[in-house]
Amino acid sequence: MTDLNQLEHDLLSQVEAAGDEAALESVRVSALGKKGSVSELLKTLGAMSPEERKERGPLINGLRDKVQGAITAKRETLAEAALEARLSAERIDVTLPVPEAPEVRGRVHPISQVIEELTAIFADMGFSVAEGPDIETDYLNFTALNFPEGHPAREMHDTFFLASDEKGERKVLRTHTSPVQIRTMTSQKPPIRVIIPGRTYRHDSDQTHTPMFHQVEGLVIDRQANIAHMKWILEEFCKAFFEVEQVKMRFRPSFFPFTEPSAEVDIQCSRKGGEIRFGEGTDWLEILGCGMVHSNVLRNCGLDPDEYQGFAWGMGIDRIAMLKYGMPDLRPFFEADVRWLNHYGFRPLDIPSLVSGLTS
Ligand code: DAH
Repeated sequence: MTDLNQLEHDLLSQVEAAGDEAALESVRVSALGKKGSVSELLKTLGAMSPEERKERGPLINGLRDKVQGAITAKRETLAEAALEARLSAERIDVTLPVPEAPEVRGRVHPISQVIEELTAIFADMGFSVAEGPDIETDYLNFTALNFPEGHPAREMHDTFFLASDEKGERKVLRTHTSPVQIRTMTSQKPPIRVIIPGRTYRHDSDQTHTPMFHQVEGLVIDRQANIAHMKWILEEFCKAFFEVEQVKMRFRPSFFPFTEPSAEVDIQCSRKGGEIRFGEGTDWLEILGCGMVHSNVLRNCGLDPDEYQGFAWGMGIDRIAMLKYGMPDLRPFFEADVRWLNHYGFRPLDIPSLVSGLTS
């Protein structure tokens, strides 16, 4: 009798003291498991005389029910406490700011932005966009553009050559966007008005040169296209692109195999305290090469130079991006550093247009 009371007292206080589910479970096993203290007592009932069983039976079964009941109640209490703890640990502060969505947080690379700007400006003047492959034939990159075989001008381009193919033909990574002039003149009938933005490659690397860079070419072919038209177009472009009222330009005689006459164009600027401004000042900065398309080039494209004429120009996109947005070094353009992109990149939904403003 007393030992049953003692056992009950011990077990109930062990149940009460269990701090978590695992502790409670080991109390249950020690009492009600196969070899548990209460189970062992239950087993003794079988060997008892009927009188003894009548007396001890209800006491032992009562003990089992009490312990079982206490364990069930304790389990519920522990579960509630665990839930309570989890709810308070995982509470969300709904007043915290929502993180920006990827399409808002992402940034447009300055090169892509400048290509969009160029396209908007020239589209407004009636130009469409033409494109060609980065891997180009030697013929289109040089020969068709009136670079004779072995001509020193080929050397000037620091060309990347690919290994010869089975026909012995050695392709190149295009050194300029000019081969797309040939592709355009051989696939479209004049009048032609295109710009050709794209990647170009030369074996060169320093603060303002990278082995891969970008150019935009322009080409106009019809019966009367002349130098005055070219000057007007380039001047309108510079004013729109640099967002200034006036810009003075200087055409210096130059040489390119595919144009005759050829010129390099400088624009007026001021350099005060390391900052370059356009539309003012007494300094000059070279921004592009241009000229009247050479008659040999027209002939190479099946156009009769007595019937058609035109002009072309080529400009470094990276260079004009650096000038417009005050970026001193070209190399980080191609390093994919998100910190640089966060600083110099553009918001994705601010698409440049002449109506809403190129950069505002
Ligand atoms: N292709 C020349 C270069 O990469 C740039 C150029 C000069 C393009 C004069 C032209 C042009 O279309 O007329 O240096």
